[in-house]
Amino acid sequence: MGDSMPLLKVDSVSAGYGDSEILRGVSIEVGKSEIVSIIGPNGAGKSTLMKTIFGLLHPRQGSIHFGDTDISRHTPYQIVGLGMCYVPQVANVFTDLTVEENLEMGAFLLKGGNMEERKERIYELFPRLKERRRQRAGKMSGGERQMVAMGSALMLDPTLVMMDEPSAGLSPKMVEMIFERIAHINRDGGPAILIVEQNAQLSLQMAHRGYVLASGENRFEGTGQDLLNDPEVGRLYLGG
Ligand SMILES: Nc1ncnc2c1ncn2[C@@H]1O[C@H](COP(=O)(O)OP(=O)(O)OP(=O)(O)O)[C@@H](O)[C@H]1O
Ligand SMILES: [Mg+2]
Repeated sequence: MGDSMPLLKVDSVSAGYGDSEILRGVSIEVGKSEIVSIIGPNGAGKSTLMKTIFGLLHPRQGSIHFGDTDISRHTPYQIVGLGMCYVPQVANVFTDLTVEENLEMGAFLLKGGNMEERKERIYELFPRLKERRRQRAGKMSGGERQMVAMGSALMLDPTLVMMDEPSAGLSPKMVEMIFERIAHINRDGGPAILIVEQNAQLSLQMAHRGYVLASGENRFEGTGQDLLNDPEVGRLYLGG
């Protein structure tokens, strides 16, 4: 298998909760070291898609491959072991643990002794976390918490990081900083990033490619620039 194989391939996936079907034949791909943005209205199924990819829900139809492994029936624990991390939309830090303990929790599957080195790398990425490393995560600002959540996800050196609305509730300045850090993490062969965002403009500017999801179905896809320039996407989903 060459480099043309996607890192993540979601193929015609249907999934939902109980009797309700939320995703109806969704297909997306993420290439190695690619930033892919998913946008769409509230209730479109964006978070459900991430939960399904991460094994918190299982597809009723279709399949999900991570590299050449079919992960459709895998547990989150198995999926983390394959190199995928997930920063959920809510409750993404352990509020009673300190910043440093959160990072260590992120590395609970880490084998070998390079915990200190990993933490140092995260502190370089987010110097603020180093200053605050003994503070409980529950006492930090929204933006700082988001840094803790991202830092914990990066502790295992994943090849794919999924982030569900990392900019939610943050000030414009903090949003800019978080997006800049995401682009930085991805640079120079860093992990691929699959990001769901309400902040569609900014996330499409940063993304290599994007998808618009509506009512649990694929609506549009293209490069970030294509989607930003598409009049229909603009009118319906970018408030333009
Ligand atoms: N645990 C659950 N049980 C039952 N229905 C759920 C559950 N979680 C989500 N849903 C329903 O699934 C649909 C899609 O929700 P989802 O959270 O995936 O949307 P979203 O695109 O992430 O929306 P938002 O932009 O508001 O975060 C909604 O109608 C929601 O009510
Ligand atoms: Mg959501």
